[in-house]
Amino acid sequence: MDLFDSLPPDTALTPMAPGAVLLHGFAREEDALLLQAIESVLTQAPLRHWQTPGGYTMSVGMSNCGPLGWVSGASGYRYTAQDPASSQPWPAMPESLMDLAQRAAAQSGYPHFEPDACLINQYAPGAKLSLHQDKDEHDLSEPIVSLSLGLPAVFLFGTASRADRPQRWRLVHGDVVVWGGPSRLAFHGVNALGDGEHSLLGRRRLNLTFRRVR
Ligand code: SIN
Ligand code: FE2
Repeated sequence: MDLFDSLPPDTALTPMAPGAVLLHGFAREEDALLLQAIESVLTQAPLRHWQTPGGYTMSVGMSNCGPLGWVSGASGYRYTAQDPASSQPWPAMPESLMDLAQRAAAQSGYPHFEPDACLINQYAPGAKLSLHQDKDEHDLSEPIVSLSLGLPAVFLFGTASRADRPQRWRLVHGDVVVWGGPSRLAFHGVNALGDGEHSLLGRRRLNLTFRRVR
C-alpha cells in the first residue's frame, strides 16, 4: 500500500525535507473539538512564560499534557512528570489530541507513534521562538508531530546544522508538520507572529508538539 493512500481526499501533502512533511489542513475539520480539549487542559495547567537558562523570559506561553511536560528554568531545559507551578501531574493527554497525532504520524510514514508528552505553545502577536533543535527526548527514533491552530506563522525549518539557512514555511490553521528520521534533529523556529484576528481563536496562535520522550 502506498503510504499516502488513506489521506482524506482534500489533504495536500508537501515534502519539506527527507523524513519531514507538511499535511495541509489536516486538522481543520476537527478544529473546534481539538480547541475544546486544549482549553480544558489549560484550565488545569495554565500557560506560563518560562525563563531561559540565559535568564530571558520566553515570549511564548507554555503548558503541557500527557505523562511528561517540557519546562525551562535557570538550571536548563528538562521534562518533568509534574507541573512545577502546582506540583500536580500534568493533565492527561485528551484522546482527541492523541488520536490526531497518531493519524498524522502514520500518514507521514511513522506508524507506531505513542507520544508521552505534548507541549502547548501560545503565541500572541510579536511572540517568537528562536532556532533550536528538539533533543531533550531520549527516543530520537520517533518523530515530532506539530499541530498549528489560529493565526498564521512563518515556520523556519533547516537541517541538523545550524550553519544551513533554514527554509521558510507558512503554517496556517489546521496544518500539521511531522519531522523525524533524517530530519529529527533539524533546527527550527518561528518568526515573530504577525497581528490578526482568527475566527475561532482570536488574536493568537496555538502550536502543539507531540513527542516520545522515553
Ligand atoms: C516548537 O518548536 O516547540 C514549536 C514550533 C511551532 O510553534 O511551530
Ligand atoms: Fe521545537
